[in-house]
Amino acid sequence: MMYTTEFTGRVAVVTGGSEGIGYDFCRALCQVGCEVYFCSRSSEKGGLAAKSLGRSAHYFQADLAAPDQIKAFAAHVLESARHVDYLVNNAANDDRIKFDDLTVEECDRMWNLNLRSFLLMSRACLELLRSGQGKSIVNISTTNYMFGFDPFTIYNATKSGILGFTRSLARELGPEGMRVNMISPGWIMTEKQLRKYVSEEDKQALLRDQCVKHLIEAKHVSPVMLFLLSSAASAISGQNLVVDGGKYFQ
Ligand SMILES: NC(=O)c1ccc[n+]([C@@H]2O[C@H](COP(=O)([O-])OP(=O)(O)OC[C@H]3O[C@@H](n4cnc5c(N)ncnc54)[C@H](OP(=O)(O)O)[C@@H]3O)[C@@H](O)[C@H]2O)c1
Repeated sequence: MMYTTEFTGRVAVVTGGSEGIGYDFCRALCQVGCEVYFCSRSSEKGGLAAKSLGRSAHYFQADLAAPDQIKAFAAHVLESARHVDYLVNNAANDDRIKFDDLTVEECDRMWNLNLRSFLLMSRACLELLRSGQGKSIVNISTTNYMFGFDPFTIYNATKSGILGFTRSLARELGPEGMRVNMISPGWIMTEKQLRKYVSEEDKQALLRDQCVKHLIEAKHVSPVMLFLLSSAASAISGQNLVVDGGKYFQ
């Protein structure tokens, strides 16, 4: 294992950890010795995830689209752990919505989770992060907005906002030793993506376009998240790391 002691006993908070990439983040953080606090809306799925992750995983039911539930999640972490070393803002909604179908309700639904919750969760955890030693935030975006794929206009409007948020927060909190970075995954072969969207043709196209000739899974993103949280990345802040097998060149 790459990290033998650095993460041991440290407190990590992950939004949306019951499945997909967030679940693998929780798995990786537990594996290196963190106490991991994660949330999701479905307590059934969250409970099952916590059970399979083991005793250092702590589940809290919260809908991050609701500001009072974000505060409740942070208050729960304060009560249980007293501080936070690492925050991973991960939960998002990747609904495909034609621009013709744009409504105020759809905008709010997407923005409330995909961008506003990243800001509010970071704010709610700020004092806890100040009390911790890790002092590192990682925000999860996507390469989708870099390509401008269709029909992801609303999704990409929210996900590209994470870039400005990451850079400005890194600048603002840098003087107190806090680092803020962003990961932009390419198309990740999660159970949900495979079930709902990914065709055989899509897989062949990815393998054609990527430098690396294997499909990218959540387990390929988690080591990058750990690296950015770790002291090995102490000179890296305000950056966007693309994890897509070498499809998009920044
Ligand atoms: N998968 C990909 O190909 C891909 C590619 C690029 C970037 N990303 C980004 O990676 C991140 C994770 O994506 P994913 O594909 O792993 O997602 P996912 O499989 O849909 O999982 C989302 C997680 O977030 C939780 N969640 C959703 N809405 C929530 C809410 N309102 N409040 C609290 N929790 C909520 C879900 O649980 P509940 O539904 O029970 O709430 C679940 O645990 C996202 O930021 C996404 O934009 C994904």
